[in-house]
Amino acid sequence: MANKIRQVKGMPPVLPESTPNWQYVESKFRHLLQSSGYAEIRMPLLEHTELFKRSIGEVTDIVEKEMYTFDDLNGKSLTLRPEGTAGCVRTAIDNGLLHNQKQRLWYAGPMFRHENTQAGRYRQFHQIGVEAFGFADTDIELEHLVLVSRLWKELGLANMTLELNTLGTSEERLQYKKILVDYFQQQQDLLDEDSIRRLGSNPLRILDSKNPQMAELIGNAPVLLDHLGEESTGKFNRLLALLDKLQIAYTVNTRLVRGLDYYCHTVYEWTTNELGAQSAVCAGGRFDGLVEQLGGRAGTAVGFAMGIERLIMLLEKQNSLPEPERPDIYLVMLGDQAQETGFVIAETLRDAIANIRVIINCGGGNMKAQIKRADKSGAELALFLGEDEVNSGQISIKYLREEGKQIKIDQQKLVEFIRKHISQRTG
Ligand code: HAM
Repeated sequence: MANKIRQVKGMPPVLPESTPNWQYVESKFRHLLQSSGYAEIRMPLLEHTELFKRSIGEVTDIVEKEMYTFDDLNGKSLTLRPEGTAGCVRTAIDNGLLHNQKQRLWYAGPMFRHENTQAGRYRQFHQIGVEAFGFADTDIELEHLVLVSRLWKELGLANMTLELNTLGTSEERLQYKKILVDYFQQQQDLLDEDSIRRLGSNPLRILDSKNPQMAELIGNAPVLLDHLGEESTGKFNRLLALLDKLQIAYTVNTRLVRGLDYYCHTVYEWTTNELGAQSAVCAGGRFDGLVEQLGGRAGTAVGFAMGIERLIMLLEKQNSLPEPERPDIYLVMLGDQAQETGFVIAETLRDAIANIRVIINCGGGNMKAQIKRADKSGAELALFLGEDEVNSGQISIKYLREEGKQIKIDQQKLVEFIRKHISQRTG
């Protein structure tokens, strides 16, 4: 036997037993967004590397060490998208979606980051994201936070914590950076290698360091919120007041800077303490400068994205995933004639009863084997067609979930019978 080819590290598949959970989460989210005025956009997985350098930032973990970048056959540097925001902005600019109009967009799909893998952290993972363009006021941040908290409610998720911060304007951050650099320079011998390098290029990133030896130094660093002007703090306080009004609980985390450079004003993360080190389930904020930075006309932008793997892990932990849907019917057929009649009957049922779930036995097998498959499929009823049934124009119905119960009716009466059966079950 040839050697098996293994999966690429950190890129797990979604196996058939799990796909119903994914479909469940995706459909809840899709429904919520579509009914709130968001339209789906589908972007390519590959972009020019320059896009991510210019948007996420050259001096970030993602761009410095996590991107899948390669030269294509024409020698162009391409990168598998590590996130959706940059590609969404690029696509919107390219296709004139931002000309004098507001846009509410959402997307879902795989993202790629060459991270150290562990439970909840993968190299191919999936996000559902939202980006809104052309909204200057904090009402849009509120809308996004309301949408996410509604999603938690609809999914039955408990114990989610919302952490919020504001990064102010780029001018305010520039002023603050000087203060921060001063502070870190005074304690340079406590900085790790990465941070010394970032001191000159992107000092805010030092606050994002995960090195526990730097925690105290970072904990005592000057706080951006204390250095913002009245307008920025006013916006932030307005958002907090609106959240209070809607009874959405939050904590202000003045150390939250996010790992991507494009943010200004509001940033936030929804976290959980039930997934070990991978606490962030959803994150986002305002990124007003990005459209212009990527060649569009200056405009405002706000969005967020959530990790579907983490969301599903959490739902599993909290026992909040629904039971998989069972088929209604498994069609058992013995002999060629029965097979012909069976396919016709299955099609008649599908035509007559919307959303009915019918599995047809394929691949033959004797009565015992077919009933075994019917049972394993989870179906409620087995419809049985043998020579007798074909000759008499009847069909046998075996109740798979009720011991020994079996009846025989005219094929003509089957649709009515099944319709009644389903409506009794669903009330
Ligand atoms: P992010 O914080 O990098 O933000 O990612 C958002 C979410 O994606 C995280 O909270 C996490 O749930 C999930 N995630 C990130 N990396 C991994 C991984 N390696 N394995 C599993 N899940 C992961 C963004 O990507 C921004 N584009 C969000 C945004 C949209 N901001 C504005 N608009």
